[in-house]
Amino acid sequence: MISQEKIDQLMDSLREMKAAKEQEIEEMRVKWLGKKGEITRLFEEFRTVSPELKKEYGQKLNALKVAAQARIDEMREELSQIVDATKPRMDLTMPGDIMELGSRHPISITREEIISIFRKFGYSVAEGPEIEDDWHVFSALNFPPEHPARDMQDTFFVSPGGENPILLRTHTSSVQVRTMEHSELPIRVICPGRVFRNEAISARAHCIFHQVEGLYIDKNVSFADLKQAILLFAREMFGPDTQIRMRPSYFPFTEPSAEVDVSCNICHGKGCNICKGTGWLEILGCGMVDPNVLRASGIDPEVYSGFAFGMGIERIAMLKWQVKDLRHYFENDLRFLREFETVV
Ligand code: PHE
Repeated sequence: MISQEKIDQLMDSLREMKAAKEQEIEEMRVKWLGKKGEITRLFEEFRTVSPELKKEYGQKLNALKVAAQARIDEMREELSQIVDATKPRMDLTMPGDIMELGSRHPISITREEIISIFRKFGYSVAEGPEIEDDWHVFSALNFPPEHPARDMQDTFFVSPGGENPILLRTHTSSVQVRTMEHSELPIRVICPGRVFRNEAISARAHCIFHQVEGLYIDKNVSFADLKQAILLFAREMFGPDTQIRMRPSYFPFTEPSAEVDVSCNICHGKGCNICKGTGWLEILGCGMVDPNVLRASGIDPEVYSGFAFGMGIERIAMLKWQVKDLRHYFENDLRFLREFETVV
């Protein structure tokens, strides 16, 4: 018969319940809450309880049922936490997994080397946006309106229309323009960064590559200063015996302009298949900043003059390590990247 003692007694034995296996828990659930279980039976007896005691016992029975279910859930939870001793444990004497260390990418190595050389000459690093406007990439650099670089076939446009179209920069000269617009004179900066050109991908060309461009503006800067800066750079980069030669060239933003070759570091000028028998390797373009460019950025060309130069990091790295195909730099083939593990 239902009684207070009976309910108390059941509560106590609920609390003492223990199980070592899932099966035991299930047996207990049946014993308590199953169709013929202890608590189910009490609910049947409850029908015969006198009306004045119904409320009191009703509440107590419900509390007992909730407590039974909670204890069963709790036991299941406890059991799931216990490690099964029959399963194999971790063997702490096993050697650990080797954590592979990555190494720097040849483009990063080369960029850092170029930057550190120019730092020694007193240049600081300037950076700018990859998504640029026409003004900073072309107009301020004296590109005439009909220049082919402004064509869709050469430049990736983000929004081609309007007075000042938005595009992906085709060179980091745009950063030099920004520097001229915002800095005090004299200026001595190098601008490393990623550039984009609408070119078919091949062993010698890619639509994304990296440049380091440089700019020096002060009073009385001459072509002789440019030549000396490039010579010192080439000797730091390719070795102390390196020779340079300059060939006349054309860029809208420099006048006069030149292309610079270094003596081939493989055959030392004798002629080999790397330098195609000429003994020389082209490394960069340069020149004296055109007065129109200075004027466009608010610098008086009657007072100031300057030089600029620009080089492709991929090309410098190719010459330094005889990489034959530009695509290697972008494919992340570990066999290629591991070649540079020991270069610091
Ligand atoms: N901006 C040129 C290029 O991308 C390189 C350059 C820079 C040439 C400065 C001359 C002077 O090809």
